[in-house]
Amino acid sequence: MVVCICNAVRDTDIEHARRRGVTTLAVIAAACGAGAACGTCREAVLSLLTGAPASSSGAAEAVCAEPHGPKPEFRLPSAP
Ligand code: FES
Repeated sequence: MVVCICNAVRDTDIEHARRRGVTTLAVIAAACGAGAACGTCREAVLSLLTGAPASSSGAAEAVCAEPHGPKPEFRLPSAP
């Protein structure tokens, strides 16, 4: 399922990042762009990263009005 429409980031991408230790919006945004454009998906992205339930606002289902470009390269920061 695509979670971040602006950057075509799927739930599996976010789960992959979470398993590699990503827990913040700033890091996931830098890694793959999730939440870095319109921000509509940020609550859903954070929910996937932390395991906390998203609110009933249905952020993952929201429609983004931003123009969608090509999916950026998925990069995670190097381990410390
Ligand atoms: S849907 Fe994720 S930044 Fe727009």
